[in-house]
Amino acid sequence: MQISPSILSADFANLERELQRVRNADWAHIDVMDGHFVPNLTLGLPVVEALSKVTPIPLDCHLMIDDPDRWAPMYAEAGGASVTFHIEAARDPRRIASDLRGAGARAGMAVKPGTAFAPYTDLLPDLDMVLVMTVEPGFGGQSFMADQMPKVREVREAVRRHGGEIWVQVDGGVSADTIEQCAEAGADVFVAGSAVYGAEDAAAAVDELRALADRHTH
Ligand code: DX5
Ligand code: ZN
Repeated sequence: MQISPSILSADFANLERELQRVRNADWAHIDVMDGHFVPNLTLGLPVVEALSKVTPIPLDCHLMIDDPDRWAPMYAEAGGASVTFHIEAARDPRRIASDLRGAGARAGMAVKPGTAFAPYTDLLPDLDMVLVMTVEPGFGGQSFMADQMPKVREVREAVRRHGGEIWVQVDGGVSADTIEQCAEAGADVFVAGSAVYGAEDAAAAVDELRALADRHTH
């Protein structure tokens, strides 16, 4: 069970310090938004490259951008240890995944709440992670969509049938109140923005979330 705090809810004027606050986490989740695929705009390659030089934990880059075929591999080269593209924006997902692995990163594929996973089951051999969004991508602090839990179960089942080590990530509205249902449904990597950075003690929030997830094993 791994926790990936989202720096979207962190202090953008002090990102190095904000990464240090969560150095007990497994990953640092970096939300890249381009103002096209999602209405919001956050940060891009130069910032990821700079963070990769100072981060105490590996970077988990979540690309909410158009044209991941062109851009995703560059995030791996910039230091993303895991890079996740959205299937809705991808032209050749197999190729993207293989480019990511070729650049030394784990390859993740994300699905928005309205996107079914079933049509993409055949991509599993090319993937290291599937991200099931539990909010509409674009903003932190939104409410958790429990109606995505059947999809988490479906992905976990497909991963189990396929074999190998493919992680199932959830992102959006994950907190002490919602993480257990995600873990129970089959998630094993949990992104949390406001639940971690909104807490007085961010490191303690990470440990608390992990302990709650650990109650459920797959
Ligand atoms: C939303 C982002 C999330 C966001 C989660 O589009 O992908 O990573 O930071 O924030 P919370 O945990 O506050 O819902
Ligand atoms: Zn995210």
